[in-house]
Amino acid sequence: MSRPHILIARAIAPQVVDFLRQSCEVQDNQADIHWSQEALIAQLQGKDGLLATGIQPVDAALLAACPQLKAVANMTVGYNNFDVAALTAAGVQASNTPDVLTETTADFGFALLMATARRITEGEHFLRAGKWQEWQYHMLLGTEVHGSTLGILGMGRIGQAIARRAAKGFGMRVLYHNRSRLSEALEADCQAQYVDKESLLRQADHLVLVLPLTPENYHTIGAAELALMRPSATLINIARGGIVDEVALVQALQTGRLAAAGLDVFEGEPQIYPGLLQLPNVVLTPHIASATAATRLKMCQLAADNLLAVLQGKPALTPVNT
Ligand code: DGY
Repeated sequence: MSRPHILIARAIAPQVVDFLRQSCEVQDNQADIHWSQEALIAQLQGKDGLLATGIQPVDAALLAACPQLKAVANMTVGYNNFDVAALTAAGVQASNTPDVLTETTADFGFALLMATARRITEGEHFLRAGKWQEWQYHMLLGTEVHGSTLGILGMGRIGQAIARRAAKGFGMRVLYHNRSRLSEALEADCQAQYVDKESLLRQADHLVLVLPLTPENYHTIGAAELALMRPSATLINIARGGIVDEVALVQALQTGRLAAAGLDVFEGEPQIYPGLLQLPNVVLTPHIASATAATRLKMCQLAADNLLAVLQGKPALTPVNT
């Protein structure tokens, strides 16, 4: 049997490239060049599999131009770059990397919450700018984290991991809203209480967004939702930028409708809506919630395993279309 041909869209762990070379003809991109969609399609000619990083749109146009493609593996849990219906119609098995990044991403979500509520980056900028004169009672007062109410919108694996940290580590009251309610056992394990979306928005001292970006969730947090939140609340987004209407968010932060926001994801990333860059009460990070060496290695290994499984005639380990 001839060896499958695969394309790795961006730089990944070299050991995983070597692993794939054992059974496939591999074209890699260890120089990490950003290919245009046109260039990506050109590189994909004659390839059976694509290992993607979650930022390459895999849509009907790409699939029509690459009829040999059988498998596409994202090395991310989010797969809003996939047109799942088009992939299914084209008979291409698509996969993502759930589980392996759950705890690391939850750690980061909590770190961002802490940095935002306790004004950590603002404090550092203040100090580095030489503005710190002396200890002052009113200096950089933040919002309490322990014992406060955490709202989680989207209660998948990462939401649950954040809930456990909050309830068990910080004595927080945890409320959540999700498409479907968790089992009683899971709710008990997470010490989380299900509420409707409006109650979540009204009651949260800190609201963490952990839901996938789908057409239904686009701008699910806009001006109307922000108006329901407490003016003292913080908003943390580690999901996808398109979940939040950034124009409305900037307005809420400017007018004191919301105390602060911590954002790891942006609608037009890597471009940042300029209003966000001007605000002191926003912590901004470049989509790094899963970025530890150990977790990134697990993510690309799982993506490679998914790709190989399909190219060897087996189902993907973690498919998104079946
Ligand atoms: C994911 O896996 O979807 C993350 O956003 C990438 O770090």
